[in-house]
Amino acid sequence: MSQHYQHDVLVIGSGAAGLTLALTLPEHLRIAVLSKGNLANGSTYWAQGGVAAVLDDMDTVESHVDDTLNAGAGLCREDAVRFTVEHSREAIQWLIDQGVPFTRDDQTAREDGGFEFHLTREGGHSHRRIIHAADATGAAIFKTLLEQAKLRANIEMLEQRVAVDLITTRKLDLAGERCLGAYVLNRASGEVDTYGARFVILATGGAAKVYLYTSNPDGACGDGIAMAWRAGCRVGNLEFNQFHPTCLYHPQAKSFLVTEALRGEGALLKLPNGQRFMQRFDARAELAPRDIVARAIDHEMKRLGVDCVYLDISHKPADFIKMHFPTVYERCLDFGIDITREPIPVVPAAHYTCGGVVVDQSGHTDVPGLYAIGETSFTGLHGANRMASNSLLECFVYARSAAADIMQKLDEVSAPSNLPTWDASQVTDSDEDVIIAHNWDELRRFMWDYVGIVRTNKRLQRAEHRVRLLLDEIDEFYSNYKVSRDLIELRNLAQVAELMIRSAMQRKESRGLHYTLDYPQQLPEAKDTILQPPTYGD
Ligand code: FAD
Ligand code: SIN
Repeated sequence: MSQHYQHDVLVIGSGAAGLTLALTLPEHLRIAVLSKGNLANGSTYWAQGGVAAVLDDMDTVESHVDDTLNAGAGLCREDAVRFTVEHSREAIQWLIDQGVPFTRDDQTAREDGGFEFHLTREGGHSHRRIIHAADATGAAIFKTLLEQAKLRANIEMLEQRVAVDLITTRKLDLAGERCLGAYVLNRASGEVDTYGARFVILATGGAAKVYLYTSNPDGACGDGIAMAWRAGCRVGNLEFNQFHPTCLYHPQAKSFLVTEALRGEGALLKLPNGQRFMQRFDARAELAPRDIVARAIDHEMKRLGVDCVYLDISHKPADFIKMHFPTVYERCLDFGIDITREPIPVVPAAHYTCGGVVVDQSGHTDVPGLYAIGETSFTGLHGANRMASNSLLECFVYARSAAADIMQKLDEVSAPSNLPTWDASQVTDSDEDVIIAHNWDELRRFMWDYVGIVRTNKRLQRAEHRVRLLLDEIDEFYSNYKVSRDLIELRNLAQVAELMIRSAMQRKESRGLHYTLDYPQQLPEAKDTILQPPTYGD
């Protein structure tokens, strides 16, 4: 039987954004944090390089702001960039206070006997400003925050709970506009439960799984973006899908990223004949922003008809490589590649969703009571191309400002009551799950082929035609059969793909991550692509 639950705050997502928000709220609030798989299911756990922040005395807020604006190709919202960077130091201090074991720099022993933290460098950054825990920063942050959350009696961590849709006054035909909670599939019971909450937070991560090849874990299906869209929220800049230049190319290596910090510490990109090529594309060579490096690799692979290029750090001392990049070293060794002696075969893969649910500086969406934080959101920080390691920073800064906003509004909002139970009376068990698997593969393949690193009008039109057919088929399936995690994800992924294609078709220029052969020039005026759902502003 389906259950009803009531919380003060419902956080959908247990990554960096969701955990930070839950831990920042006061302990008298009843908080549920959901994950659709196990708690480590999101991208956070896999983050390697680190978190960008102004920590070094030689670095400045202005410099971090300028680098972010440059990487974003004229499209960042300067107020969002400034807000994020100005709060970077305190966000890192909060992480240190939680106990995150960032790597220390034994070269910089201080007079008081302590050590400074080691700062590495990545593409687009003009300073060393990436604080990290070797090359497994995400795992270190996730484990620390989860440990802290488990110590808090007011935070319930719930695994295998898949949010299906948001409950809003509008959907229930009630007066006023507000988000009231969510319907959530409990994968153990198979029932869809009702979660009522005074405040609902989407911290569901990105949508890179929309592409056939990606660095992301399986759950990156854009669930939060699709749920917010259906609830009446605007979405922004969804044409900007970031491809990470260097994922390991090996038939058995599913989604393994080779961190940009390797290039920050001197690794070189090479063609199969051993020649470097990045200087031909940008004066910053291997340390150019990601859009430029990924496009250059794609160009060289197509020009030469080769399956991959190579990333070579073998000129550095073996001890240095093993100390700074233990995860990459071990993982490559599993596939017979010793990175202290030989170059790593790499290809670009979909990595990060720069656009998302439109929010203000507090992470608040267009629907009162509903927040979106982390990769699900569109704050304006990343513009047309996210700079490396600004993503985790955005998670922490906006989760903390959303928490502050909730605390201010607490007294104004009472608990929703009498929410209707999920209606499963018209649906039966599916006997055709092959349709889900087939549609899933088809969607991800045509997104890769037609909406990838290089786009054209024709390719986008083809993709649009196909996604509409898929959406109709999925809608019919969804109306007739019981929901499962696969079906929920496919429905959301197809919805987000449609929004990405529509956004890409609206942009008649090439800028940052959106490169089209039909409009190779950048327009003089930079404009966001904001889509409004049919119900927006009713
Ligand atoms: P996630 O960490 O992705 O968490 C999403 C959560 O939402 C999960 O708990 C998931 O279960 C839950 N969820 C999703 N849908 C539902 C649903 N329907 N119902 C219930 N729960 C749901 N960024 C950096 O700044 N620095 C780096 O070094 C870096 N390295 C990266 C390396 C890799 C391999 C990858 C993939 C990304 C990297 N990024 C990095 C990007 C960064 O890790 C992510 O943008 C960030 O972790 C996103 O955090 P999040 O909290 O928004 O979402
Ligand atoms: C990496 O370590 O290369 C990923 C960094 C990021 O995505 O910001």
